[in-house]
Amino acid sequence: MTDKTATLGVDGNNHVFPILEGSVGPEVVDIRKFYAETGMFTYDPGFTSTGSCRSAITYIDGEKGILLHRGYPIDQLAEQSSFMEVAYLLLHGELPKKDELDKFVYTISRHTMVHEQLATFYRGFRRDAHPMAIMCGVVGALSAFYHDSTDITDPEQRMIASHRLIAKMPTIAAMAYKYSIGQPFLYPDNSLSYTGNFLRMTFGVPAEPYRVNPIVENAMRRIFILHADHEQNASTSTVRLAGSSGANPFACIASGIACLWGPAHGGANEAALNMLREIGRPERIPEYIARAKDKDDPFRLMGFGHRVYKNFDPRAKVMKETAEEVLKELGVNDPVFDVARELEQIALNDEYFIEKKLYPNVDFYSGIILSAIGFPTDMFTALFALARTVGWVAQWNEMISDPEQKIGRPRQLYVGSPQREYVPVGQRG
Ligand code: ACO
Repeated sequence: MTDKTATLGVDGNNHVFPILEGSVGPEVVDIRKFYAETGMFTYDPGFTSTGSCRSAITYIDGEKGILLHRGYPIDQLAEQSSFMEVAYLLLHGELPKKDELDKFVYTISRHTMVHEQLATFYRGFRRDAHPMAIMCGVVGALSAFYHDSTDITDPEQRMIASHRLIAKMPTIAAMAYKYSIGQPFLYPDNSLSYTGNFLRMTFGVPAEPYRVNPIVENAMRRIFILHADHEQNASTSTVRLAGSSGANPFACIASGIACLWGPAHGGANEAALNMLREIGRPERIPEYIARAKDKDDPFRLMGFGHRVYKNFDPRAKVMKETAEEVLKELGVNDPVFDVARELEQIALNDEYFIEKKLYPNVDFYSGIILSAIGFPTDMFTALFALARTVGWVAQWNEMISDPEQKIGRPRQLYVGSPQREYVPVGQRG
């Protein structure tokens, strides 16, 4: 809290609002009493100037291209940390000591299996169902299977539900993939790392042992860490909004998955790879750059631009290095990577992209890596959902324990008809 205030003059009356100060980042005008004082609402579609909550989890400086989880820079975490450690950090606020980490890993590994009846639930889906459709359904359905962790007023149940969600997501995502290709589901192997286990459940078969490639495992670790949380983005805000009504955690995370599915959010890596494949060869790049700049063409350069980053997305740098490593290790010579590198250079030097501060985002290179590893494009968003579950549950827990938390209920600028009299159908002219 500062002593500073912001004054708004309306019709000769001054209304004074407190200014709140965070630990870093822009100050915030506290407009909670705005309507009571002025009789007006604020108007902010897309919430570009609106802070919806207090949070101590993730900090982004979009102008400088900085992303911190609990104060730790994303590149340090991506290089030095494990996904389980980052999950603990996001949930609990501090890096775990060795015994705390061991206990956390053990706890998560004890929840990796799903209820056996869930396997029959999958059979209700068409084989060509999008994995995100399956994920929405199955994750929402967890609330029908784990009744002992849906009481949100009990902190212990909240933590059990959080552990369950983090632990079961890889199993659920891998099962969605196995179902689509008609292969048997594999049970988790808790002797493997979080990512190693996921790779085995996805690409292994019961008939043969599966060897986890350490370079691929490391790439997946980085991808999961880079996607673990991202402040109050659309899907996280969806989870918080769903949770604000007291909905159970499984239902809330299912709502986050639904929001993430859209091409402007989690679906962008799939869209970016499809676009790169469509471009096909570097000679065609200028044609697509011209389309992206054309006001009459709805085409956008997928994997470029970000609501918050007006500089390099710090995650995109790590992603590019990881793409180089994975392609080299797997001996994949994908021309799409050449298109991506060239497109990046051309766009970064183009006046339109410079002026609008459009830089590659996390999704620009991630699709290339995932494709080289062997994931079909429609699994990309499911992987994003898997990793982001950690952030969603951390943010959901923070919201539930926040004494200032209320049901989310925005207002509107009404532009419809004022009150009018009902006319019976026979009398309408
Ligand atoms: N290609 C071409 N032009 C673009 C692009 C792009 N990728 N992104 C923004 N612009 C232009 C817009 O046309 C607009 O131009 P105008 O001012 O002349 O009208 C201007 O830049 C601002 O764009 P907005 O849509 O207002 O910016 P906003 O912050 O709402 O959008 C978004 C951000 C949705 C990410 C946008 O940049 C976009 O659609 N990018 C492509 C999709 C994508 O990669 N999404 C992934 C986001 S990261 C994530 O979810 C993990």
